[in-house]
Amino acid sequence: EKITLSIIKADVGSIAGHHMPHPDQLAAATKILAEAKQKDIIIDFYVTHVGDDIQLIMTHRKGVDHPDIHGLAWEAFKSATKVARELKLYAAGQDLLSEAFSGNVRGMGPGVAELEMEEREAEPVITFHADKTEPGAFNMPIYRIFADPFNTAGLVIDPKMHDGFIFEVYDVFEGRSVLMKTPEESYDVLALIGTPGRYIVRRVYRKSDNLLAAVVSVERLNLTAGRYVGKDDPVAIVRAQHGLPAVGEILEPFSFPHLVAGWMRGSHHGPLMPVPMRYAKVTRFDGPPRIIALGWNISRGRLIGPVDLFDDVAFDETRRLAETIAEYMRRHGPFMPHRLGPEEMEYTTLPSVLEKLKDRFVKTEEAKVVKKHSDLLSH
Ligand code: F6R
Ligand code: MG
Ligand code: MG
Repeated sequence: EKITLSIIKADVGSIAGHHMPHPDQLAAATKILAEAKQKDIIIDFYVTHVGDDIQLIMTHRKGVDHPDIHGLAWEAFKSATKVARELKLYAAGQDLLSEAFSGNVRGMGPGVAELEMEEREAEPVITFHADKTEPGAFNMPIYRIFADPFNTAGLVIDPKMHDGFIFEVYDVFEGRSVLMKTPEESYDVLALIGTPGRYIVRRVYRKSDNLLAAVVSVERLNLTAGRYVGKDDPVAIVRAQHGLPAVGEILEPFSFPHLVAGWMRGSHHGPLMPVPMRYAKVTRFDGPPRIIALGWNISRGRLIGPVDLFDDVAFDETRRLAETIAEYMRRHGPFMPHRLGPEEMEYTTLPSVLEKLKDRFVKTEEAKVVKKHSDLLSH
């Protein structure tokens, strides 16, 4: 019997800016999922948030992309939106791009990561939830977990992992993906995923038996909506242990707070800061980007947990470094590379500002320009 772990997340409104949902929104979503559990639509669930995104973590027997599960999530987000409207919270219903649900939430605003599995004897799983960044933020850590022997000792030591992993890399612009083998094609994988705004590691399989080991949400809301509607705060599911990377190997890459796109107005690079759930809110310059890691065991579909994995002093130095980097980046103000480059800014509100300036550029010889400018200045 196969179990599916589905994480569906959306930002449907936040208290005091874009910083965290109101507890009543979480309660409203919880109520919907509790009723569904009662009716055996899902086996188990857990509702939490990171920053302004509500995270629905669900287990069931219906497989990925199932209309019952996606419909349930939609209903939960609608209910949380209703609360947001009633309380006049900020950006109520933001990520629900459409009024009507049509069988699947993909392309409708919410982010999705779903993993169908044959439950192993013990099934340890980590779910990652980030705010104020994009799916490509997982590229570097996922690569290091599954393909970097300096991170993951098991790649060298454990015969089950020694053959390596297969990466599915998804091109968000073209909507197509490619399967690549590591270690053989590691450099080609890196050639793609070093551009995290376009190429995203979507799934990882163990080469020896094709076991699905990791899934990352790949929704890019701005591309979907065709306008700026916030960054696509991503989620990921990673299975652990017994021939897969150990929990400690999966968490290890996050000890380096690498620079990711997102932060204020989805328009800035900043460090990804691993935090315990109680710090999963974004205050400084609407950030810095944050990530939580929840540890679970899945038992006949039941969610045993979570344990709050970044709630550990072992990550204190990472957080301190992230704060130093945040300070350093902030000092650049509106300048690149703190502010994103022009291709990425296409999906923000900047183009409408630049549009206004378009007609004021003068293309002619120096003398005429000087004349025109001095005319302008004398007015
Ligand atoms: C980024 C984010 C925030 C907002 C910012 C401006 O993903 O959600 O940084 O972009 O607070 O929000 P508005 O334009 O709604 O005032
Ligand atoms: Mg938001
Ligand atoms: Mg968010």
